[in-house]
Amino acid sequence: MSWYRNSVFILKGLKDYTKSGYASASKQFCEKDLDVDCNGKSFMITGANSGIGKSLAISIAKLGGTIHMVCRNPKYADDAMQEIKNTTGNPNVHVHLLDMSEPTSIAKFAKKFIEEHESLNVLINNAGCMVNDRQVTEDGLEKNFATNTLGVHMLTKSLLPLLKKSKEPRVIMVASAGMLTQKLNVDDLQAEKMKPFDGTMVYAQNKRQHVIMTEEYAKEYPEVKFFSMHPGWADTPAVQNSMPDFYNKMQGKFRTPEEGADTALWLAVSKAALEQPTGEFFQDRKVVSKHLPLACTHSSQEDHDKLMKILDDYFSQFSE
Ligand SMILES: NC(=O)c1ccc[n+]([C@@H]2O[C@H](COP(=O)([O-])OP(=O)(O)OC[C@H]3O[C@@H](n4cnc5c(N)ncnc54)[C@H](OP(=O)(O)O)[C@@H]3O)[C@@H](O)[C@H]2O)c1
Repeated sequence: MSWYRNSVFILKGLKDYTKSGYASASKQFCEKDLDVDCNGKSFMITGANSGIGKSLAISIAKLGGTIHMVCRNPKYADDAMQEIKNTTGNPNVHVHLLDMSEPTSIAKFAKKFIEEHESLNVLINNAGCMVNDRQVTEDGLEKNFATNTLGVHMLTKSLLPLLKKSKEPRVIMVASAGMLTQKLNVDDLQAEKMKPFDGTMVYAQNKRQHVIMTEEYAKEYPEVKFFSMHPGWADTPAVQNSMPDFYNKMQGKFRTPEEGADTALWLAVSKAALEQPTGEFFQDRKVVSKHLPLACTHSSQEDHDKLMKILDDYFSQFSE
């Protein structure tokens, strides 16, 4: 089954996720959708110092939005903040230093942010990693899970009280179509039983978790719009560093970071996105299937509930 899923995914990717896929899909875009005034609205973007996150920050700052960059590296964050301010002329760009693999720090950060800010209109969970060996954080969590899944849950859930009282609140999960190759495996979230450890598979599991978390948040919090999305294959440091073979083979075919960021931008700022169903998975400004045909990747509601219960238990443990 994994051979079938991977083959269909690659064929689909070569057609849809590349630069030419974007060129073809973007013919259907309504450019006026991004003709929006974001003055007075605030946007938190994790991993905003690089790639897709930085492109999002620049585009939204150009539209007048207040940007809260959540980054782990002070130098990268400061350099990117200066670049965003200089490129856009928007002075309302702020850096918050936070490592998304540290759940206790995330809870503390969110608490302080809520105390100091009256609103947050949009949260974009963009930061992500693919660590190819099994690393364990100080909290005893597998590093990809800690960053990609638990970090996202900690931040989203902690900020919900603020999002809920803000105008037209939205949460966007930068997932990946890599998740199409995976069925949720809720019994090995820490990749303890995976032998040998496979970082690509763990990452794809994390992204499958994103898509399911988006569905479950949407049901639980109907007052907020939740969207997950796939950027396509974009030329960024993450791909270059974590998947060097893929990166070399795909030279000339990658989307730019701006093209990769387009759907997240559209979901974050456009009025059209507010008319889209909550909890869905998007690619190139359209709802797309969360499963490949005949791939047997559907999981039960019982497994979804189990995933959310585990995340909520961690949330309680690390929020205290
Ligand atoms: N590029 C693609 O083709 C593609 C395809 C599908 C999905 N995605 C997703 O797109 C998102 C953005 O990635 P990208 O491609 O734009 O790569 P990128 O340029 O390398 O950006 C990744 C960002 O995440 C940050 N980050 C990673 N671990 C972190 C942590 N523990 N705490 C805080 N920040 C952390 C990185 O910070 P540092 O700069 O400090 O490392 C960086 O800012 C990711 O979620 C990725 O999975 C990308």
